[in-house]
Amino acid sequence: MATPSQEDYIEAIWILIQEKGYARVSDIAERLGISPASVSRMVRKLSDEGILTHERYQGLTLTSEGLRRGHRLFERHRTVESFLTILGMSDPSEIDRTVEGVEHHLGPEALLRIASLVNYAGAHPVWWEEFHRWFTSQHPSPTCEPFSKPDA
Ligand code: FE2
Repeated sequence: MATPSQEDYIEAIWILIQEKGYARVSDIAERLGISPASVSRMVRKLSDEGILTHERYQGLTLTSEGLRRGHRLFERHRTVESFLTILGMSDPSEIDRTVEGVEHHLGPEALLRIASLVNYAGAHPVWWEEFHRWFTSQHPSPTCEPFSKPDA
């Protein structure tokens, strides 16, 4: 990940807490692929903002506000991931790279509409398969330049 944003930290800490009950600076650094020193700087900032508390010897825990935001960020990540998956993307690292790139820019309305499409497609598989058939007919090789072949 390039330079993780504050949201990436909160999401990573939330996931670590779900997995093991706490998050250590070293765990966060490993998860985000950055140095522990950068994590410590952000931890101080998030602590000042009331997002997390730092218990000596216990690692970090999120405040109720931090938990609420972490959960929301996690759900947003999963929604965009589901969206790309139902669109037919299958390479997990490409999906992840794309989600990490776009997720921070999605406001509540965009997210609601994307989540609704994901849910609707799940509830109407025949309708969605029709889209996939059409897509495949338009783009037999889906990783190619998207705008090289204008719609007939
Ligand atoms: Fe994310």
